[in-house]
Amino acid sequence: MSVPVVTLKVTESQQSLLIQKPASGLSLQGSIRVPGDKSISHRALMLGALAQGETQIRGLLLGEDPRSTAECFRALGAEISELNTELVRVKGIGSGQLLEPHDILNAGNSGTTLRLMLGILASHPGRFFAVTGDSSLRSRPMSRVVQPLQQMGATIWGRKGNSLAPLAIQGQQLKPITYNSPIASAQVKSCILLAGLMTEGQTTVIEPALSRDHSERMLKAFGAQVSQNPENNSVTVTGLAKLSGQSVIVPGDISSAAFWLVAGAIVPDSELLIENVGVNPTRTGILEALGMMGADIQLENEREVAGEPVADLRVRHSGLKACQISGDIIPRLIDEIPILAVAAVFAEGTTVIRDAAELRVKESDRISVIASQLNLMGAKVTELPDGMEIVGGTPLAGTDVDSHTDHRITMSLAIASLNASGTTTINGAEAASISYPNFTTTLQQICGQA
Ligand code: S3P
Repeated sequence: MSVPVVTLKVTESQQSLLIQKPASGLSLQGSIRVPGDKSISHRALMLGALAQGETQIRGLLLGEDPRSTAECFRALGAEISELNTELVRVKGIGSGQLLEPHDILNAGNSGTTLRLMLGILASHPGRFFAVTGDSSLRSRPMSRVVQPLQQMGATIWGRKGNSLAPLAIQGQQLKPITYNSPIASAQVKSCILLAGLMTEGQTTVIEPALSRDHSERMLKAFGAQVSQNPENNSVTVTGLAKLSGQSVIVPGDISSAAFWLVAGAIVPDSELLIENVGVNPTRTGILEALGMMGADIQLENEREVAGEPVADLRVRHSGLKACQISGDIIPRLIDEIPILAVAAVFAEGTTVIRDAAELRVKESDRISVIASQLNLMGAKVTELPDGMEIVGGTPLAGTDVDSHTDHRITMSLAIASLNASGTTTINGAEAASISYPNFTTTLQQICGQA
């Protein structure tokens, strides 16, 4: 088999990923493992820090985002051992017991770190905190968490009417609320639940559609009282429970597996087995969407590991057809829409994605960035205010594209380039390390290059 040349060029200022597709004969093969789930990794570190006793975390994601969480919670007084995938030990300091750090807490590129941590900090009376992030995070909306926290009595200051980081927080004794969230966001929901954890009484969040429920599952496992009502997508936490340290086993991240699912589906004669992937039903929208498009994906060896459903995913190449994606499935595949757009580029017919305006306030404006970068390669993607229209079936040609410092854009473009003639150069490829530090190595492996 002739193989594409996948090369990483490293300069002082950035990394560029070069993918040179051979004229014929590329097929992707192999068994791979994806890194630990990012959402679960953040929550394990945070709840471990708030619990009494030791939490042991196996399979933690070693990406930049969980590293930001670990740094913040070390500064808040938790003892967190060196991060590795085998075993991380967190010696918790107890809920309500976090220390006032001597410096500004930096969440880096991570919205989950900043938004969830805000709920925790705002409910720590008598301490003052300052939080910030990188230039992407400092431009992302924080009023979605600041406003409900203010309803609970929180004191938070920031730029643009307290809506942008850097933020300053004077911790307070909060009061419980019932919050009708206008958006289906696990970050908003989790922020309020974590504030409710340290607030006497019952704090409830109602969502317009169900978002990922990792916080609910893990809070229960750590000993908090959490009840869910699927009829109105509400969740209630009872405050002032003591958390106790647990053993957490982090499954592989379905958001990272999604790149290989699409790669296996679009590259002729491919077959990939992705082992140990989390298949929590609040995250499996991508499997349903690719299924609607005619992808050949099988779940094997389905099991439950430490309170989360897990499976091995086998994907084989198949012709894809267009589909329509909107409504309640959107929060269940929100992070996978850039790679879904890549699948749609190679599908027959016109795919329409709607109700996904949230993509405009992710690590980049993912609607505008994925559309513009795929169009540079010859795709026909039209931006909609809340989604995209993608006319499939136009052949792509390699060219220079840019990640816009967004990890999921980098990896989506790399998969698109496997089906584009010539050489694609993805500038700003270092962004992948936010959620997938070994992405290039795995790409080389399945292309038969490693
Ligand atoms: C996350 C929730 C999602 C997702 C993000 C991780 C989480 O964000 O996009 O990558 O871990 O709670 P929203 O809740 O803001 O949609």
